[in-house]
Amino acid sequence: MEPETGQELDDGCDKLITGNTQLTGIIGYPLTHSLSPQMHNAAFKALGMDWAYVPFPVKPSGLEEAVRGLRALNVRGVNVTIPHKESVLEYIGEVDETASLIGAVNTLKFEDETIMGYNTDASGCLRALEEVTSVDGSSVIILGAGGAARACAFQLAVRGASVTILNRTPERARALAEDIKGALDIRVKYGGYELIPACVEGADILIDTTPVGMYPHMDDEPLVKAELMHEGLVVYDLVYNPPETCLLREARAAGAVPVSGLRMLLYQGAEAFRIWSGREPPLDVMEKALLDALQGV
Ligand SMILES: NC(=O)c1ccc[n+]([C@@H]2O[C@H](COP(=O)([O-])OP(=O)(O)OC[C@H]3O[C@@H](n4cnc5c(N)ncnc54)[C@H](OP(=O)(O)O)[C@@H]3O)[C@@H](O)[C@H]2O)c1
Repeated sequence: MEPETGQELDDGCDKLITGNTQLTGIIGYPLTHSLSPQMHNAAFKALGMDWAYVPFPVKPSGLEEAVRGLRALNVRGVNVTIPHKESVLEYIGEVDETASLIGAVNTLKFEDETIMGYNTDASGCLRALEEVTSVDGSSVIILGAGGAARACAFQLAVRGASVTILNRTPERARALAEDIKGALDIRVKYGGYELIPACVEGADILIDTTPVGMYPHMDDEPLVKAELMHEGLVVYDLVYNPPETCLLREARAAGAVPVSGLRMLLYQGAEAFRIWSGREPPLDVMEKALLDALQGV
C-alpha cells in the first residue's frame, strides 16, 4: 500500500527551484515515511507560490549545526519530527505557550531576530476532534503515553477535558499525568490497559495514540473491540496509514464516531503552512495530496 522508503516517494515538487524560491521542509531521523512533502508542495503549487518543501534527514549529533545552517540558508521554516521534537528546544529562541507547556515542538519558523517554536500536533489533534464533538467538559481516554499522547493530553486538559491516560507501561502514564498536574494543576487519572473496559464505558472520547494497527501491521488486534464501545463514543485513531484502521472499523460496528489520524496530520500541516506563509492553507488540496500519497498515486 505504501512505498517502502522515502526515496521512492514522489515529493510532489515538480517546479523549477531558483534563488527566489522560499524553502521549507522537515528535519527528523530517519525520514522514511513522511507524507508532508507531498502535502505542502501540493499546497504551494495550488496557490501559485514560489515555495518548496524538502525532507532533511538530520542525525541527533548534527541537530545544532542543522538548525544554525537552515537559518543561515534563509529557510523560512521546518517541521520537526522524531527524534528531535524535544531536543531542538535547546537551539531555538522562543516557544509558544502550548509548546512550552508540552515541552516539545514540531514546527519552527526562522525570523530575523529569533527562531520560534510551535506545537501544531496539539492544535491539529484538537481541531480534528472539534469537527465532530465538543471537548470542554468531556471525558477522554488516551491510550499510550509517548510523544503524541503528551501533545494531545496537555491540549485537551487545557481545553477543559477530564483526561485519563492508560499505557502498556503504566509508569509512563503516571509520569505524564504528573507532568500535567505539575504544569496545569489539573488532576489526570492514569493506569494500565487492564482499566480499558471500565474507563471506556463512561468515556465520551477514546484516543489511541499507539502504533497498533499501523502499516504493515494492519491486522493486529485493536486495543479496544466493538463490544466495549458505545454508540456516540468518539473513537480517534492517530494512526493514518491506513486511513481506516482496525480500531476505526470496530468503532463503525459499534455505532461509535470514527476519526482518522489523517485529520490530525492534515491540520497540523495546515497550521504550520499558516505559520510560515501567513496564508490560508488550501485544505482540500492538502487532503487530496495525502490520500494520493497513501494510495501510491
Ligand atoms: N496523525 C498524526 O498527525 C500523528 C502525529 C503524531 C503521531 N502519530 C502516530 O501516533 C503513534 C505514536 O507516536 P508517538 O510519537 O507518540 O510514539 P511513541 O512516543 O513511541 O509512543 C508510543 C506509545 O504507544 C505504546 N505502544 C507501542 N506499541 C504498543 C503495542 N504494541 N501495544 C500497546 N501499546 C503500544 C507505547 O507504550 P510503552 O510506553 O509501554 O512503550 C507508547 O506509550 C504513531 O503511530 C504515530 O504515527 C500520528
